[in-house]
Amino acid sequence: MGGIRIVGWGTALPDKVITNADLEARLDTTDEWITERSGIRERRVGGTTTELAVGAGRAALAKAGLEPTNVDLLVLATTTPDQAVPATSAAVSHELGLHCGGFDLNAACAGFVYSLVAASGMATGHIRNVLLIGSETLSRVTDWEDRSTAVLFADGAGAVVLQAVEGPGDLLGWDLGLDGSLRPILYADLGGFIVMEGREVFRRAVRATVESATQALRRSGVSADEIALFVPHQANIRIIDAAGQRLGIPRERTAVVLDRTGNTSSASIPLALADAADAGRLSPGDLVLLSGFGAGMTWASAVVRWSA
Ligand code: ACO
Repeated sequence: MGGIRIVGWGTALPDKVITNADLEARLDTTDEWITERSGIRERRVGGTTTELAVGAGRAALAKAGLEPTNVDLLVLATTTPDQAVPATSAAVSHELGLHCGGFDLNAACAGFVYSLVAASGMATGHIRNVLLIGSETLSRVTDWEDRSTAVLFADGAGAVVLQAVEGPGDLLGWDLGLDGSLRPILYADLGGFIVMEGREVFRRAVRATVESATQALRRSGVSADEIALFVPHQANIRIIDAAGQRLGIPRERTAVVLDRTGNTSSASIPLALADAADAGRLSPGDLVLLSGFGAGMTWASAVVRWSA
């Protein structure tokens, strides 16, 4: 079996910005509370999961120098599909003009790393180019009257193009986990809003991130010191700092976009990765640690060599 490398990346964010000041005006909250407790200053809302996914997917294909006809597999990580049936990947595939297989994957905020691992395992034989997108419209499942969640969740999409290569490739090691007994601490019923026990999710998120990232590092034969960039799920700056501290990875080697994007679930890791790549923070050969956790609870980590 061969491996994969990342050959393109792209993002899409809605135009509409909601600042903490906007939320202050309509909820019993303050900019100070939101910034101190979460690190979020503004977020983007609007569009559909399909529209955002198409925008990010198109940008990633352009960066890779590929046409839609070159794509051999589409994987869409989302926890906010546009319809119950069919899968949102159907609309995304049609809008992008793809002619290949495709499916949705729902592992909440760990969805992008779950999809990366799944797609990497499939990128062999006739599947050479995989378009992997994380896209979310969490604003549609957020109760905008509930200050405990309205200040956190938002919309966006990020994508990467994976290319099959001879040899082991750039996915060096990974870890996936799921503990379904924790479903009650974070969920949305069909047609309902996100319900969350914030403090409990926080506690478990730090532990899951540290344990999962440590496992992925160990399986990759890589130490935390060798990681050039840590790209964690963008839920809360305090979770990111606590996990980074325990892993021994300082903020200078960590990708953070949540101040501008809020929590965009499966879009958050590709948004942060693309932001770092576009800012010139990644060089060929750099080792990148991706780690996400989310409703389920799910968690997923991967060590990837950057060779784009
Ligand atoms: N503005 C002002 N006060 C608020 C707000 C708000 N927006 N929200 C809650 N409060 C109040 C609470 O009512 C509480 O008041 P009390 O002490 O009088 O009861 C107080 O602030 C403290 O509340 P906590 O929930 O203990 O605050 P905490 O420091 O834990 O921060 C937060 C809350 C930001 C939600 C944090 O717990 C967190 O980030 N948890 C993890 C969330 C997360 O990662 N979710 C995403 C998972 S991924 C996914 O699936 C999408």
